[in-house]
Amino acid sequence: MKTRLCFIAILLLSGVHEALYGDMAGPASSSSGRRVVNFNSNWNFSKGDLPASRVAGEPGAEAPGFDDSAWEVVRLPHDWAISGPFNPQENGYAGKLPWKGVGWYRKTFTLDKAESGRRVYFDFDGVMAFPKVYVNGQLAGEWDYGYMSFRVDATKYVKFGGTNVIAVCADTRNHGTRWYPGAGIYRKVTMTICHPVHVAHWSTFVTTLQVSDSSATVRLCSSVENHSDTRSEITVKIVLLDPNGSGVRRGTAAVTMRGDDSYQIDKSYVIADPQRWDITNPKLYTAKIIVSMGDRILDTEIVPFGIRMFEFTANDGFHLNGRRMQLYGVCLHHDHGPLGAAFYPRAMERQLEIMRDMGVNAIRTSHNPPAPELLDLCDRMGFVVWDECFDKWDATADRVKGQPPLEQYGEKQIRSLVMRDRNHPCVVVWSIGNEIGEGGRDGVTMERVKFMSDFVRKYDPTRPVGMSCHIPSMAERPNFDALDLTGWNYARRYARYRERYPDKPIIYSESASALSTRGFYELPFPNEKTQYSKQLQVDSYDLNAASWSDVADVEFQLMENDRFVAGELVWTGFDYLGEPTPFAQESRSSYFGIVDLCGIHKDRFYLYRSYWRPQATTVHILPHWNWPDRAGQNVPVFVYTNGDSAELFLNGKSLGRRTKGQLPERPVNFAQGKPATASSIESQNGHVAANANDANSATRWCAANADAAQWWQVDLGQVQPVRFLSVEFEKEAKNYGYMIKASTDASTWQVIASKDTSRFPQWGGPTQAFHDENAPARYLRIEFTQVQGGAWAGIREFGAYPAKTESSYYDVTYKYRLRWNDVVYEPGELKAVAYKDGSEIGQAIMRTAGGPAVIRLTPDRKELAATGEDLCYILVEALDEKGTLCPLAENLIRFKVEGPAEIAGVGNGNPLSLEPFQVNSRKLFYGKAMLILRTCEGQAGQVHVTAESDGLTAANVTLQCR
Ligand code: GAL
Repeated sequence: MKTRLCFIAILLLSGVHEALYGDMAGPASSSSGRRVVNFNSNWNFSKGDLPASRVAGEPGAEAPGFDDSAWEVVRLPHDWAISGPFNPQENGYAGKLPWKGVGWYRKTFTLDKAESGRRVYFDFDGVMAFPKVYVNGQLAGEWDYGYMSFRVDATKYVKFGGTNVIAVCADTRNHGTRWYPGAGIYRKVTMTICHPVHVAHWSTFVTTLQVSDSSATVRLCSSVENHSDTRSEITVKIVLLDPNGSGVRRGTAAVTMRGDDSYQIDKSYVIADPQRWDITNPKLYTAKIIVSMGDRILDTEIVPFGIRMFEFTANDGFHLNGRRMQLYGVCLHHDHGPLGAAFYPRAMERQLEIMRDMGVNAIRTSHNPPAPELLDLCDRMGFVVWDECFDKWDATADRVKGQPPLEQYGEKQIRSLVMRDRNHPCVVVWSIGNEIGEGGRDGVTMERVKFMSDFVRKYDPTRPVGMSCHIPSMAERPNFDALDLTGWNYARRYARYRERYPDKPIIYSESASALSTRGFYELPFPNEKTQYSKQLQVDSYDLNAASWSDVADVEFQLMENDRFVAGELVWTGFDYLGEPTPFAQESRSSYFGIVDLCGIHKDRFYLYRSYWRPQATTVHILPHWNWPDRAGQNVPVFVYTNGDSAELFLNGKSLGRRTKGQLPERPVNFAQGKPATASSIESQNGHVAANANDANSATRWCAANADAAQWWQVDLGQVQPVRFLSVEFEKEAKNYGYMIKASTDASTWQVIASKDTSRFPQWGGPTQAFHDENAPARYLRIEFTQVQGGAWAGIREFGAYPAKTESSYYDVTYKYRLRWNDVVYEPGELKAVAYKDGSEIGQAIMRTAGGPAVIRLTPDRKELAATGEDLCYILVEALDEKGTLCPLAENLIRFKVEGPAEIAGVGNGNPLSLEPFQVNSRKLFYGKAMLILRTCEGQAGQVHVTAESDGLTAANVTLQCR
């Protein structure tokens, strides 16, 4: 296709106020000239490396005559690996599922004789991985990135008036990944049949040049292609429709196109009284481009767009339509738990509904191009999106052994991503990668970052280009010069970049990486973020995080302090398959999610909701109140609320009112302010010995040099009943080896604790160390034996206490949660009454449950569309006789589905479970499980669902499919 301007083009513009072109129902309507066919049903599938070419006279799997009658009939989206089985021996990083291999798909279709001469395209939204597409035995197209959408021009391979066969081979053997990728044709496929003169694929680009209350200027660029060799006299009409569907602007051009020619459209329109796209009121306009010849419409392109202005500022975060908007975001991986990578628009819509309820306004599509419907939903529902092209630039981007060359490959994928997604008002950042190290064959260099960024700008000069960074020292060199903004992952790693580039915006592109298992509590709860349970589950008191990251509250505080940052994108909104830190070997799905793999709220959901939605009432009590083995013992209670205080009652008796920001009373620190001495001090920086016991962790004692053999000593003034020691270091505690010695007279010393340096965890870790010792002493002395990681011997705070005390790391939790640490357990009823500014805002009750007696089913919706793609999520719970949720129930529930729906998946949010996802039964996990049903295409009627379990009263629910 040559690209040159056609020789006659007259453009007339007029304001129109009536609804226009009501006869053009949408892209699937043939009166629009273009026929878009849903191509998802009736594929035959076979797993295995079948021959793709004739062997010994037999047709290969791509050949029309190949016998696929024994293959499984599947409907897209399809993920061949999600039905399992799990491999318990495998490390959990990629979900322990059989995603590696080759799979073939074949489908037979007919094309009407009357359509001959038209163009036939197949659009694949995503095939994992390295798809090859054969039409009637010939290779019609292929693609090399499993997450990217691609188009195959099948025109010259199809037969009109006859039967055709399309065969797709997907091969994941060379796909690299750090999580569960899925396998096969996991997103939708459409077939588009259109006139040879049509709007070029992804060529339309609508941008807002200026917007004020009274007017907006919108620019529309597009391209019409003539794929025939005949000269055509055509008319190109452009209609802009407002959010109510009324035409507001219209333009017409008469164009003469030569054969094999293209016509470029580039027009600007002024729209009066524009309705802006915003988070709270996401108004969408529509651009229609209608190509006709005489009275006949040849092609219609419909592109929704939004009128909005945004800006990432260096000093005041993100602004949308002129006002600052703090980003309350989450990162989302592409899988949908029990459904695997198979993408259902309803599954995505539900994810977004759950996130919105929590207060989320920003989504990061970590770490790859999303299904296009995700962006449609964000446009409609009002989220801003960080649209990410790659994780690394290596095999996780399907570049095997560095091939193809990065420059060529980068442009190809970035071009597709940006051209596909650039009309979505929700997209506010393009990301060219995530956590890529420096140099080497596939790493970051200044040149590579520049050419990748410039590819983005070539296809969209209107939005900022960023990437997620993780190594602070990389900012010391000009690696990131070409970026408009940077995202930084965890632990305030953006500090150095901020110093070097004070005029560039920053997003906290991954925060938290906090960990928990829904429903699981263990006591005593952790006193360090990396103190994990031995039960391979993570305590849901929300005190654990990965070594390199932090609990939610730390990040809340950070975002309040660093207002120049646009906001945080929490790792992650939902649990996902793979990457089961900290139990990488044993488990198959993550603990990071704020909700579990099925979308059931963990406690953390309420913590975020209470902070991100201060106007919505949240009162949530944790833990559950079934602790038969702890009668008379301590069970701490936390309340997450948007209120500023709450009173807690146990069986009607007040346990006191707590207010946010009040720290609990701590045991006295015998060392505080007492005379301290040290082997040496870094005097030029004022790091004197007394800084280590001044009750201020911002100051520290530091030795004069890097030698490990240093000591620090304190005189408590008299012999004290020391039972607990805490030492806060400058860097992570793993970097220091030492002995702690005690003495009553400063001459006889006894070693009471010692510790070596450790290499694990490799990234980050707590800065405090604790020693639970009974060591009455007047003098305490810490003698360093080893230092590593560039650390010098030094101490921020040293504490010697008469009783165990909580790590000061958790002080910040008292600002965002209400905590009753000393509750003594007795069964019955806990009640929290929450207040804000002195008035009661709500209550929550948590009761001790009796044994499981009854099943409860709660569907998310009862009216479903009989499309074969609509889903119903049914929450399954066990209740006792009085209707109280049984928080420990593990009953096996069996499901029966009658009517036009089938089981798409079952799950329960247990990261350790290796039970299959596609069966008709599931054990409850901490009282809950999820049943996911899918409707059947074209089959309306009632669906009756029954859930049964031995010894429990069964439950039924009836759904309607229309
Ligand atoms: C980040 C990384 C994510 C995920 C996360 C877990 O460093 O970008 O993909 O691995 O850590 O905390």
